[in-house]
Amino acid sequence: MTALSSHGLQRATYDGLADPEPQSSGDTRRRSLHGPLSSVHGSIGKVDELDSSNPLRITIPAQHRGYVMHQAIRTGHVAVITGGASGIGRSAATRFAAAGMRIVLADVDEGGLAAVAEELRATGADVVTLRTDVSNVTQVAAMADAACEFGPVSILMNNAGREGGGGILAGETVWDATLATNLLGPVYGVQQFLPTMLAADWPCAIINTGSKQGITLPPGDTAYNVSKAGLNAFTASLAHDLLPTDGRVTAHLLIPGFTFTGFTTRRGIEAKPDGAWTADQVADFMLERMDAGDFYILCPDNETNRDLDIRRMQWTAADIAENRPALSRWNPAYADAFAAYMRGEG
Ligand SMILES: NC(=O)c1ccc[n+]([C@@H]2O[C@H](COP(=O)([O-])OP(=O)(O)OC[C@H]3O[C@@H](n4cnc5c(N)ncnc54)[C@H](O)[C@@H]3O)[C@@H](O)[C@H]2O)c1
Repeated sequence: MTALSSHGLQRATYDGLADPEPQSSGDTRRRSLHGPLSSVHGSIGKVDELDSSNPLRITIPAQHRGYVMHQAIRTGHVAVITGGASGIGRSAATRFAAAGMRIVLADVDEGGLAAVAEELRATGADVVTLRTDVSNVTQVAAMADAACEFGPVSILMNNAGREGGGGILAGETVWDATLATNLLGPVYGVQQFLPTMLAADWPCAIINTGSKQGITLPPGDTAYNVSKAGLNAFTASLAHDLLPTDGRVTAHLLIPGFTFTGFTTRRGIEAKPDGAWTADQVADFMLERMDAGDFYILCPDNETNRDLDIRRMQWTAADIAENRPALSRWNPAYADAFAAYMRGEG
């Protein structure tokens, strides 16, 4: 299926997501924010209700469902993707481009950026590549300037990430780089783009790529876990602060499962493990769940389904309620109890 974009290029559209025509894109100037979001948008009203059939799931009010994400993914508008040179970012960029969006790809990997840009341009997409280290606020600000020059930004995907590989005593180099990339990178991204999104009159979405490790905190990769736990907290707070926009600007926490990407190949694994999803599967799932209005986009993979994830997360959350030791899931004294719980006996 093809559609004519705002700038006259023939390109593929992503079925069911692309707008037939470019939407309002009046004032695209960069803004800076002064004061809290509530001062911009007034008081926060009551929005959500608990879905009684599943206490973990918040139901988005009917008037917001289906509207928000369809509208943010739109022909002629700009999608900014950090970590866009590889893996999940590359797959997401491919899909946003197929929806007729202009693409800003940011990454530290210039060779990867050039390769992905070439792929996208071959499909007729308008693409800008920016060598950007997301841990550097000056570079993130320059990325925001360039993106807003390119067109009306309606998608920001803070996706760049690095594996920490570091425990408690890993040293400041590992900790600084991991927190700066995985946590401060998205913070800088939001701070640089959000004022412009708030001042705009078109729907916008911010997607931060988190991790299940930021929720369940498996021992050993502590720097990474801490960075993703912080990102979880930041993104949840962002989503709440955006409630006064009545769904015009939304935030989403993408939580991939085991995914075959640069993360995997850097460990020397060249072929996709059976248990892993592809990055394309993650990107497709993300779009489907954004369309459904989800904040927590909890991806399964070929070895972990949603029910398994939810049980693991409920066990972790219950450590507090049950006054168990920290990370009891991995505490030998709780091995039998955890195994029984996972068998449905707990
Ligand atoms: N692959 C998985 O199993 C998995 C699971 C959960 C979460 N994630 C998250 O998914 C996101 C994307 O990773 P991926 O799996 O596609 O891996 P990937 O290695 O294929 O892609 C990550 C990209 O981020 C870029 N990057 C790293 N540091 C950067 C920096 N400081 N500034 C700009 N770009 C930088 C890399 O160059 C790379 O292109 C990451 O945030 C990662 O933590 C991945």
